[in-house]
Amino acid sequence: MTATLLTNIGELTTNVAADGDPCGTLHDAALLMEDGRVAWVGPASEAGDVSSRFARSTTGGVTSVVERGAQRRDETPLEVVDVGGRAVIPGFVDSHTHLVFGGDRADEFESRMAGIPYVAGGIRRTVAATRAASDDELRARLLGFVAELHAQGTTTFEVKTGYDLTVEGEARLARLAREVTDEVTFLGAHVVPAEYADDRDGYVDLVTGPMLEAVKPYAKWFDVFCETGAFTPAETHRILLAGIGADLLPRLHANQLGYGEGVAIGVEYGVWSVDHCTYLSDDDVAALAGSDTVATLLPGVEFSTKHPYPSARRLIDAGVTVALASDCNPGTSFTSSMPLMIALAVREMGMTPGEAVWAATAGGARALNRTDVGQLGVGARADLVVLDAPTRVHLAYRPGVPLVRDVFKDGAPV
Ligand code: NIG
Ligand code: FE
Repeated sequence: MTATLLTNIGELTTNVAADGDPCGTLHDAALLMEDGRVAWVGPASEAGDVSSRFARSTTGGVTSVVERGAQRRDETPLEVVDVGGRAVIPGFVDSHTHLVFGGDRADEFESRMAGIPYVAGGIRRTVAATRAASDDELRARLLGFVAELHAQGTTTFEVKTGYDLTVEGEARLARLAREVTDEVTFLGAHVVPAEYADDRDGYVDLVTGPMLEAVKPYAKWFDVFCETGAFTPAETHRILLAGIGADLLPRLHANQLGYGEGVAIGVEYGVWSVDHCTYLSDDDVAALAGSDTVATLLPGVEFSTKHPYPSARRLIDAGVTVALASDCNPGTSFTSSMPLMIALAVREMGMTPGEAVWAATAGGARALNRTDVGQLGVGARADLVVLDAPTRVHLAYRPGVPLVRDVFKDGAPV
């Protein structure tokens, strides 16, 4: 294994809370990555002491050093990288995407911008295109999205099924998703497919029975789109009970298109995250504040559907844990850019830049029940981003500018 020491970090966001700063911000810092994990974090002035633990060796002009000492299993070369005063943040954790699908719906987006409202039924168009696509076509598309995510600083991401809605088809989407992430969510309850239009109960039977069984080997999570035009509160209860009974972990799409019972149901069942939360009553906010459920906000959806942005400020001030995610999907948010989510959250949702970066990293990790990512404390996965900027504020201050300079995943450059 190699080790890499990043030095001369102008601003390091660790998300290890200290002195009332949830972002655990350090200035003039250094960070050692070893065996894929964060091995040491401290002042840049101590970086020399850390690198002196390693014996220096030079190959082809690259300054590398090899760790000394009989206690080492083998000789570990150390690469020292001076990041020139730039900011370093944890890799983004995108806890909500729908990346396995065929086709796109650019025509719907164009109509929406001209005033035609979004309706959940558009999902059925993508279902038809997805069913028609081969494994190789879906896989190539998915790998393209993964490259896109990495290039934009996302190092952990969730992927949902939900664009096939047959037993074999949903299992196929979950199997493909599992090739690129452990965070796979079964979303058979995305919309009732056309062939079950007159037999909704029959479709819920399928989702809670054979489809759940077929997808379960590939999935960690399950989800329900609880919304007008998708699944009713009564159906959501049935599906939640079945998913929990099958030992999958629950999360919900709720309160996206209007006020409703979704968030309250999510809190009642203790789901890890309720996602969207665009339309929240005071009771919804109070219920979330009294729970461990994360509110995952998806501002790409409001951007692309012209619904109003939810107030993250209202949630944070009430004590709710907020995450930001892209919801990358062809219908309501065809972007995988976490920097864009941060810019929108700061400009439109009342978050400070620090809160938005926390929500896009540590918040996403909470929403996925992960403690090894979303933070850069000693022992965390060495997943991080070197920004081409002196501070994380620039992510919102310079919207649309590619500020992700270097991405490390498990301690290695991506
Ligand atoms: O998160 N809300 C449900 N699912 C997606 C939309 C999917 C689609 O329109 O294709 C979402 O917004
Ligand atoms: Fe979604």
